[in-house]
Amino acid sequence: MKTISVINLKGGVAKTLTAGSMAHILATYHGKRILLIDNDKQGNTSKTFGVHSYDDKSISDVLTARRLDPWEVIKKTRFDMIDVMPANMSLIRANLEVMLDTSARPQQTRLRDALTAIAAESFYDFCIIDNAPDINISTINALVASDDVIIPIKIDKYAFDGLEELKEQIEDTRADWNPRLRLAGCLITCFQRTDADRQGEEWLRSQPEYPVFDTHIRYSEKVAESTFSESPIAEYSRRSGAAMDYIAFVREYLDRGKK
Ligand SMILES: Nc1ncnc2c1ncn2[C@@H]1O[C@H](COP(=O)(O)OP(=O)(O)OP(=O)(O)O)[C@@H](O)[C@H]1O
Ligand SMILES: [Mg+2]
Repeated sequence: MKTISVINLKGGVAKTLTAGSMAHILATYHGKRILLIDNDKQGNTSKTFGVHSYDDKSISDVLTARRLDPWEVIKKTRFDMIDVMPANMSLIRANLEVMLDTSARPQQTRLRDALTAIAAESFYDFCIIDNAPDINISTINALVASDDVIIPIKIDKYAFDGLEELKEQIEDTRADWNPRLRLAGCLITCFQRTDADRQGEEWLRSQPEYPVFDTHIRYSEKVAESTFSESPIAEYSRRSGAAMDYIAFVREYLDRGKK
């Protein structure tokens, strides 16, 4: 099982859309079995896949419970090949609880331990983690548990704020906890054919320390509609620019992994 963290310290850059689209496209176009993890108290991924709830177990339990079968937290969705580990607002409290837990149990490896148990069953091909726009103990848990990091970037005046800090966090996590961790690349999202977007893209592609996927994701009005119908964009409007770009991006991601 390959684990991918979709992360950026900035909000509203299409982390959730990217994580959900990757899950859906890997499952339906490439026949992969997917565990999609919602690691954001907003629970947008859980809502998109119809599994948001306050009654059932969530990622909060994975981070805080002493003894827990991680399979108890995983929910089926209407897609055969996609299961979701949901999140809700209890993640705020869970983050605090983990921070205050100074027992011998490491705070950073709780998600990894759960995913190691899940991976041992060889059921999923990919685990994709949709992260909150933050560095906190649950996002650190995600990085410790991941093989690849994908950073969605929406070009605007502040688009590159926090990139340096995120890169440092990735490097620190690699050094301290997870030598496998790799920045797979930055993904330009919500791209519009304006001078600002072109210049921003050009600048990012000229930075040697940040790998950037060749595919960028176009802005499409269909995306907003798809969120209301709780459908992944490649299901809602396969021919929209955003859907076609996500399909091309997933192919590029898989091809890069083969090299
Ligand atoms: N390619 C696109 N075309 C049009 N709208 C888009 C596109 N990508 C993202 N959006 C819109 O931008 C908004 C933010 O997207 P999304 O929720 O995926 O971002 P996020 O990074 O997960 O946000 P947060 O930090 O709040 O979790 C949403 O309203 C989404 O519909
Ligand atoms: Mg989100």
